[in-house]
Amino acid sequence: MSTRTDEILTNDSHLIQSFANLDGLKQTNARTAIVSAKGGYVTDSEGNELIDGIGGLWCVNVGHRRKEIIDAITKQLNTLDYYSTFYNFTHPMAAKLSKKIADLAPGNLNRVHFGNSGSVANDSAVRMLHHYYNRLGKPHKKKIISRVGAYHGSTHLAMAMTTPAYSDGWDVTENLVHHLQSPYSYREAGDMNDEEFLNHLANNMIDKINELGPENIAAFIAEPIMGAGGIIVPPEGYHQKMREITDEYEIMYIADEVVTAFGRLGHMFASQDKYNMTPDIICTAKGLTSGYQPLSATIISDEIYDVISEPGAMFLHGMTYSGHPAASAAALANIDILEKEEIPKKVRKTGKLFENLLKGLTDLEIVGEVRGSHFMMGIEFVKNKETKETYSDDLAVGLKIASECQKRGLIARPLGNILILSPTLILNEGEIYRIEGILRESIIETTKKLKSMI
Ligand SMILES: Cc1ncc(COP(=O)(O)O)c(C=O)c1O
Repeated sequence: MSTRTDEILTNDSHLIQSFANLDGLKQTNARTAIVSAKGGYVTDSEGNELIDGIGGLWCVNVGHRRKEIIDAITKQLNTLDYYSTFYNFTHPMAAKLSKKIADLAPGNLNRVHFGNSGSVANDSAVRMLHHYYNRLGKPHKKKIISRVGAYHGSTHLAMAMTTPAYSDGWDVTENLVHHLQSPYSYREAGDMNDEEFLNHLANNMIDKINELGPENIAAFIAEPIMGAGGIIVPPEGYHQKMREITDEYEIMYIADEVVTAFGRLGHMFASQDKYNMTPDIICTAKGLTSGYQPLSATIISDEIYDVISEPGAMFLHGMTYSGHPAASAAALANIDILEKEEIPKKVRKTGKLFENLLKGLTDLEIVGEVRGSHFMMGIEFVKNKETKETYSDDLAVGLKIASECQKRGLIARPLGNILILSPTLILNEGEIYRIEGILRESIIETTKKLKSMI
């Protein structure tokens, strides 16, 4: 280990890593310190250059260290370092960005509230809806329907909307959020075909609505494709069906597009352009600035805005950094790159190649399913393809394969028996083939090791 790594790791003992086994980290130095980045690559403190197969954390959409974004941030800080969007204050960058987002968002989603993380964007959506229903004289219409497998963030409310498994040993608000079955065809559909599974999920939603009473339900929240839950792609027509049901029972639809917006699936927003469905609220973050600055947006419909901005209404919600000038400048420069370089359009080609090549890995002995879309993919490993029997957790198969990938120059994210890939959106064909090659070799090598262990 180099002295540089040693120094970083010594300081690191004060850092609380997120979603980490803290005791495990105390016992081992098995950490990767990323010290620099450029384009689709990062460099660790040992000097290894690695393909950033997870785009930072599904966020570095336009690639690392783009000069245009860095210059826009610097210019903004040299002009107006900070001012708030509280009370009657505004500033040019937050104003311009809200207009830009309203132009890009589908339907009548024309009003934007800024936050600084995806979790806050989702919390804000719920707080705004609760206030909306209070103003409409429907104070009981508060419950939220979410799904098993969902990830909506780590603030108290966002975690309550996340899959219950993530709260093991932690507390969440009770009775506010109710979870539906996950649309995880590979493991939940049994003998049902796609259409039957879709009907089954729709009935599950209707049963839940009837059980809770539509008069008590504020919203249904869903990611277009579940990310941290293991890249779960719902059956064809799912989002439209859920929209029909929410419309019928007068329940709002919150689309959590924290990951899926700004190009990852080949469109600025996936809800309308990919799934032909307009929600009432879209929450987004990550690709909004490509991670260069922390910024999120809760984009609400005119209908909701009209009620919360009626005479006498006070909007008692906001964060000091809502619409921070430097973060807004970063987002504008980032969106400019996405548009000028037609990145979403290119992703429809390169992302499709990525998807198809990775789907080809199903020929390997331990690959049970490869799923996802474009630059949002997951590979699930199984002990037995026929029975879909999983490896036991202590074998840490995903982690083993991720380590093999890293040795070969690729960062991938393990999640139990699943490996997640969500790279930058600027990869060329050669790099895409290289990722597939590294994955293939790493899976084959791990399969051999697993066999020698069993
Ligand atoms: C779909 C989704 N929603 C919300 C969040 C939370 O975003 P943040 O970590 O910025 O709070 C995430 C983070 O990964 C996410 O994937």
